[in-house]
Amino acid sequence: MSAGFAGKVAIVTGAAAGFGLAVATRLAREGARVVMVDRAAEALRERAGALPGALPVVADTSREADVDSYVEQAVERHGRVDLFFNNAGIEGRWAPMTELSVDDFDSVMAVNARGVFLGLRAVLRVMKPQRSGAIVNTASMAGIRGGAVNAPYVASKHAVVGLTRCAALEGAPYGIRVNAIAPGHIDTRMARNLTAQLDPDDPQGMYERIAASVPLGRYGTAEEVANLAVWLLSDEASYLSGSTHLIDGAVNA
Ligand SMILES: NC(=O)c1ccc[n+]([C@@H]2O[C@H](COP(=O)([O-])OP(=O)(O)OC[C@H]3O[C@@H](n4cnc5c(N)ncnc54)[C@H](O)[C@@H]3O)[C@@H](O)[C@H]2O)c1
Repeated sequence: MSAGFAGKVAIVTGAAAGFGLAVATRLAREGARVVMVDRAAEALRERAGALPGALPVVADTSREADVDSYVEQAVERHGRVDLFFNNAGIEGRWAPMTELSVDDFDSVMAVNARGVFLGLRAVLRVMKPQRSGAIVNTASMAGIRGGAVNAPYVASKHAVVGLTRCAALEGAPYGIRVNAIAPGHIDTRMARNLTAQLDPDDPQGMYERIAASVPLGRYGTAEEVANLAVWLLSDEASYLSGSTHLIDGAVNA
């Protein structure tokens, strides 16, 4: 086991699956004490049980009281928060704007934009007095470009990029770094759900067409995304803050 994060206290949201689970796994293996947050209670407890020293906290990141509570529980248990992977997000319904309801818009914004804001607010309240910390928010390539069938998702991920810039400026005088990652097509539950939404009759065919459209010729993996996020959280990234980092197999090159 590498001990790159020995003794550090980390909070990871969306930790029961996908990128969150991959980052929590890396951090725990490298010595961090990881507070794993997710609303999928059963999966969360099972995943946390497999990682040394991990604390599962069931919470809905779109709810103010739940967010304040997961941060409080981390501080109660460990006394501080050094690292924050502010990652939980949903894809929502993908369809042209003309077919979307207000609820389609609000439900995605509630998790992806409000949830990221609430997490930043609660964690910065802990990190500022510490005068240290590193944060990575999960945006998306949808945070830097548009799309014809995903307006709520695109709007919410542009919000994550904006919140990242604001938090970086607010945190900098306190030695706190804040960055975002902008993944492209990565093979998780979310990507599979999207192929089913985009072509309900042939989701596997859609998956293959998307993979073929990527210059590197395939979807990325959650572990490849974790490599970037964990590096941004590490001291090796000590002069990076306020920026958004594409990881997309050259889709946006
Ligand atoms: N997979 C991709 O291709 C891709 C690309 C770009 C960005 N992203 C973003 O990456 C992040 C993680 O996505 P993933 O692919 O790992 O998805 P995933 O669906 O595999 O995992 C997301 C996890 O977050 C949890 N979650 C969702 N809403 C929550 C809430 N309100 N409160 C608590 N937990 C919640 C889910 O239960 C799940 O365990 C999301 O923000 C997503 O928008 C994904």
